[in-house]
Amino acid sequence: MKKKLSPEKIVNGMLKVASLPMVYVKISEALKNPNTSNKDFEIILSDDPAITARVLRLVNSAFYGFPSQIDTISKAITIMGQQQLHDIVFACSFVNAFKNLPQDVVNMESFWRHSIACGIAARILAVYRRETNVERYFIAGLIHDIGRLVIYTELEEMAREILLNAKESGQLLYKIEQEELGFNHATLGALLLKNWKLPDSLVEAVANHHKPMTARRYRNEVGIIHMADVICHAMQYGTSGDNFVPPLNKKIFDIIDIPAEALSPILDQLSIQNNEAVNFILGDAA
Ligand SMILES: [Fe+2]
Ligand SMILES: [Fe+2]
Repeated sequence: MKKKLSPEKIVNGMLKVASLPMVYVKISEALKNPNTSNKDFEIILSDDPAITARVLRLVNSAFYGFPSQIDTISKAITIMGQQQLHDIVFACSFVNAFKNLPQDVVNMESFWRHSIACGIAARILAVYRRETNVERYFIAGLIHDIGRLVIYTELEEMAREILLNAKESGQLLYKIEQEELGFNHATLGALLLKNWKLPDSLVEAVANHHKPMTARRYRNEVGIIHMADVICHAMQYGTSGDNFVPPLNKKIFDIIDIPAEALSPILDQLSIQNNEAVNFILGDAA
């Protein structure tokens, strides 16, 4: 049964509930200006000590594995670059923006575990493929199911119905979403990211993560997020609501060539990095 809901209207209403913190918005603006110094970044971030602390804890964790202590934002930028730091601030802001969610609809800790693991898996796959700016893969993985957060917060009653229906029918959640709402979380999430003016590569990766072959652009990003999502489900690193492992579209191997023998070391790395990053990113937000 299709309900007449407009994904645009839902997302526009959502912006009031979950908007990205001002400090992230300012950092995005600063990044566009080529004259922005590392010190300018540090001054902007000093407006939000909680995010600054979280960023510093994350860059000092085994997730990055830098040999020496990074105690200031300027130092972090010197080592990582402005773009990478901007992306990490986004990751920390994103988790914060959605911390007050209804716990009784889905297990939010499990949701974040799935999202963070997917970000880490995507980053590892990107490193393996020697992609540039691997942080954007981490971000794409982290936010790939953001549409589900919109459904859980804005359409709480329907979300319960959809989750129950998926469980009883043994079908994948995104198919039930499509049937019941007329759209799914991938479409909805992509729309929210567009409203947040995030890069097209992120919008495409989120929009197509369940159907990677439908993407016309950014196929590397889309393919990697699709694969990372399936890996995290298979390894049971949390869930965003699904009870089953979504099928891997084997055609993506035509786009992202990862040989079978690479998989075991990739999974080992994922396990090590995941344990650390979950605590550092979630902090008190879980
Ligand atoms: Fe999904
Ligand atoms: Fe997912």
